[in-house]
Amino acid sequence: MADAGETSFYSNAVDYWRDVPPTVDGMLGGYGSISSIDINGSKAFLRKFLGEGEGQTGTACALDCGAGIGRISKRLLLPLFRSVDLVDVTQEFLDKAKTYLGEEGQRVGRYLCSGLQDLVPESGRYDVIWIQWVIGHLTDDHLVDFLRRCQKALRPNGLVVIKDNVAFEGVVPDEVDSSVCRDLSIVHALVGRAGLQILHEEQQTDFPKEIYQVHTLALR
Ligand SMILES: C[S@@+](CC[C@H](N)C(=O)[O-])C[C@H]1O[C@@H](n2cnc3c(N)ncnc32)[C@H](O)[C@@H]1O
Repeated sequence: MADAGETSFYSNAVDYWRDVPPTVDGMLGGYGSISSIDINGSKAFLRKFLGEGEGQTGTACALDCGAGIGRISKRLLLPLFRSVDLVDVTQEFLDKAKTYLGEEGQRVGRYLCSGLQDLVPESGRYDVIWIQWVIGHLTDDHLVDFLRRCQKALRPNGLVVIKDNVAFEGVVPDEVDSSVCRDLSIVHALVGRAGLQILHEEQQTDFPKEIYQVHTLALR
């Protein structure tokens, strides 16, 4: 049974995102200008793993978690995967995605409106599960459980990728959007609790100095 603090942690986030405009700038808290640097960094990261060879990750289907309007699906996932599913807690963003993604949006398999804490991704469906700028909206226990479910949802040689802000030290709460920012050692510990291995990790370069460091972790 969820306690009152946990219930309001989630419901306050839902209320926050309901009032955010369905734009790239809205998705990035006013930092829409960094979207291209972000996407290019992600593309270079993911390309290390994708391909036909032995042990390489396939390109049949990806899941975009906390997808918002589909900023990442449009420029990273749809160009690399035959089909992409989107999941987000905010229905208005998924509605916007249907036009924002344009023609290529025809290759979206499923639009799932759900909190990640409640989502059970289909077993064995995904080559890549991309989780960007949303883990801070899950409690530790829910994040661990979600990562475990993601592992079961991977195809052979599949990858779970987390790309997110990391705090300098400890857990920094954000009362405005009802999230937390964890330091890297805490993220590592939660990934370990979920039973996932870290295959590769990078810090995103060329972001503005005043924002959190952003790290990308490839897991399976
Ligand atoms: C900072 S935006 C990032 C959007 C997208 N990942 C990107 O990088 O463009 C956070 C997104 O997470 C969604 N979100 C917040 N809490 C969530 C939850 N518990 N489960 C799923 N999505 C959630 C919001 O609706 C919003 O679309």
